[in-house]
Amino acid sequence: MPKRRNVPSYRPDIYSTEAILDPYPHYARLRELGPVVWLSKQRVYALPRYAECKAALRDDKTFVSGRGVALNPFTNRGSRGTTLTSDGDEHNKRRKLVAHRLTPKALRTMSDAVASQAEQIVDAAVAKRTVDGVRDLATALPLAIVPDLVGWPRDGRDHLIEWAGATFDALGPLNKVSIRAIPATLQMLRFSRRVVRERSVLDGSMGHDVMAAVDAGTLDKSEVPPLMIDYLAPSLDTTISAIASALHLFAAHPDQWQAVRADPSLIPNAVNEVLRIESPLRAFSRSTTRDVEFAGTTIPKGARILVIYASANRDALEWTDPDTFDIHRDATGQLGFGYGTHGCAGQGLARMETQAILTALAERVETIRGTAEPIWAVNNVIHQFERLPLELIPAGEEKS
Ligand code: HEM
Repeated sequence: MPKRRNVPSYRPDIYSTEAILDPYPHYARLRELGPVVWLSKQRVYALPRYAECKAALRDDKTFVSGRGVALNPFTNRGSRGTTLTSDGDEHNKRRKLVAHRLTPKALRTMSDAVASQAEQIVDAAVAKRTVDGVRDLATALPLAIVPDLVGWPRDGRDHLIEWAGATFDALGPLNKVSIRAIPATLQMLRFSRRVVRERSVLDGSMGHDVMAAVDAGTLDKSEVPPLMIDYLAPSLDTTISAIASALHLFAAHPDQWQAVRADPSLIPNAVNEVLRIESPLRAFSRSTTRDVEFAGTTIPKGARILVIYASANRDALEWTDPDTFDIHRDATGQLGFGYGTHGCAGQGLARMETQAILTALAERVETIRGTAEPIWAVNNVIHQFERLPLELIPAGEEKS
């Protein structure tokens, strides 16, 4: 176990249920303590401030992902073979296999379909009027889009949301939540192996490209199951979280909703601001390949480092009034999609989905009103609502 010297320590468990439900006071105390803080419960070095998070993500030779990005050794061993958990040439190879599917050009061919799905989802929600923002608005679009893109068979989708959530729980420290998640993550891996064995990926999908690489001899068949999960698991809860947080924030800030309705060109930056203030993915880890002098601290080789994107995105050294939701600020530098070589491969799609829902809503809904206290979900990594009761008041109705 690496030694620590001259580093402030923080004793409270930032993965307790209380901290998961309201992490921001903990992050504020961590940022006050310094740029590098020892979490005594998890025995890792945390980076709570913006500049150091960005610097560590940029230096992917020192702060590597190949030994896993979770906070527990079981998941770190079990998640080998993904894009997320590889380094250097291996990482480039894996990322290139499917990246062409997610380039701006490739995404443009999907944009009409995404917009029309979003319109149908919003129309159905407006017709209901009283909705659960998570179930009726945020979940429907990612679930309609990503499994087809990845090529996941249509008869294997019943458990996708449960499996994807479990995958994120398993990336936390070894606590009750991650232990409970392990059976579901194994089920997902088993299912993915069966898909590869039976070659039941959908034609023309990402999975199809990956199988073609196996046929061409450039990829081993055993590498395919983790790669399928690689693109499916991180694409659901994250986007669901972003859309639901956007709904919640606009319900709480009706003036900003009116600004978006008056000028929909504000929507892309509004999405950045949502990701900044309610970052869907709170933190991932890295491990160090050498002793490194970092922000005045010597971090030893082999140490585990927690990069807290959600804390960096509220760092007052980087952002003015960081706890204020303001769609007019320049939020392009937010780290909600990570940064550097592992920066989110699906961010173009995630932005497109979130923007499509907001655009459809802005055209149809005058007011988004919270009707009861929302309930946050308890997940080790994803910051998301479990329930978000809303009323959607159609355009024109309030004035008449
Ligand atoms: C709002 C939605 C999303 C958020 C907030 C998000 C966040 C992130 C973050 C923070 C990372 C960096 C991980 C690291 O630093 O180790 C990441 C990586 C990744 N994301 Fe996303 N993501 C979202 C949506 C998606 C979607 C829709 C897909 C797939 C279609 C996707 C696929 C990936 C993949 C494959 C990686 C690994 C990239 C690599 O290691 O090179 N994500 N995401």
